[in-house]
Amino acid sequence: MKILVATEKPFAPVAVDGIRKVAVEAGADLVLLEKYTNRQQLLDAVADADALIVRSDIVDKAIFDAARNLKIVVRAGAGYDNIDLASATAAGVCVMNTPGQNANAVAELVAGLLLYAVRNRFNGTSGTELKGKTLGLLAFGNVGRNVARVAKGLGMDVYAYDAFCPKEAIEKDGVKAVDSPEELFRTCQVVSLHIPATDETRNSINHSLLDLMPKGAILVNTARKEVINEHDLVEWLEQRTDARYLADIQPACHEQLLEVCPERYFATPKKMGAQTAEANINAGIAAAKQIVDFIVNGNERFRLNK
Ligand code: 3PG
Repeated sequence: MKILVATEKPFAPVAVDGIRKVAVEAGADLVLLEKYTNRQQLLDAVADADALIVRSDIVDKAIFDAARNLKIVVRAGAGYDNIDLASATAAGVCVMNTPGQNANAVAELVAGLLLYAVRNRFNGTSGTELKGKTLGLLAFGNVGRNVARVAKGLGMDVYAYDAFCPKEAIEKDGVKAVDSPEELFRTCQVVSLHIPATDETRNSINHSLLDLMPKGAILVNTARKEVINEHDLVEWLEQRTDARYLADIQPACHEQLLEVCPERYFATPKKMGAQTAEANINAGIAAAKQIVDFIVNGNERFRLNK
């Protein structure tokens, strides 16, 4: 069995060691394709692979066409908008993710971005504190739950809206459940996005939601840039000179925002929410174990495509 790890953005070396150990113990060969710069390298490498581990790497029909032995793809992470599930199903390939494995890393980045912003980029001037401020979580999945835990530690007053999570489950975690995204944006000084990029959520963070935010609003996006309507975001930041935008993903309007509100906008140069040794170890090893369990025992827990 050949397991290919194809990561344009590599895992920490210690995580690769752990993945290799799982593969070797199962009698599999592990092949690494890291920091590849063109698609052909991935198409060539996948040609004789039985299993594939990726991060945000694009896995589309061309990959499934090229990978004649492929049985399973595991996205070592949560969001799987980079994987064409319909093409996987047509090719008879099982697709899984590793939910929750990198959630703490993303949650800690949310806290880091917020502290950086409210303490004026650590420039020594007098800033504000997070304690006592209202934080709204748009979606209460693994990342949202971890952000709630960290934010409560900082003394924030945490609210959440999740269309798919019962209110009781949210409140059991000591978080106030609200009835709509509108109520969340209206109530909270800080809103942190944790929705996946789907046909329903793309462009969904628009003027009508942003305008509801109270004075001193901070929007944090460690989810996907596609969920924001960037035209509306730029207009909102132009009009609302009290508002700030913090992102783990440089939006297409990055240069424009640097001109419009250089002091009120910050984005990491590369998506780094899950870039910790711990998250890489957790997600990478979980992916390798899921592959072995699928091939050896037929275990389809975490399967995403039907
Ligand atoms: C995820 O969906 O798990 C995160 O966005 C992390 O993505 P990455 O593996 O590309 O860093």
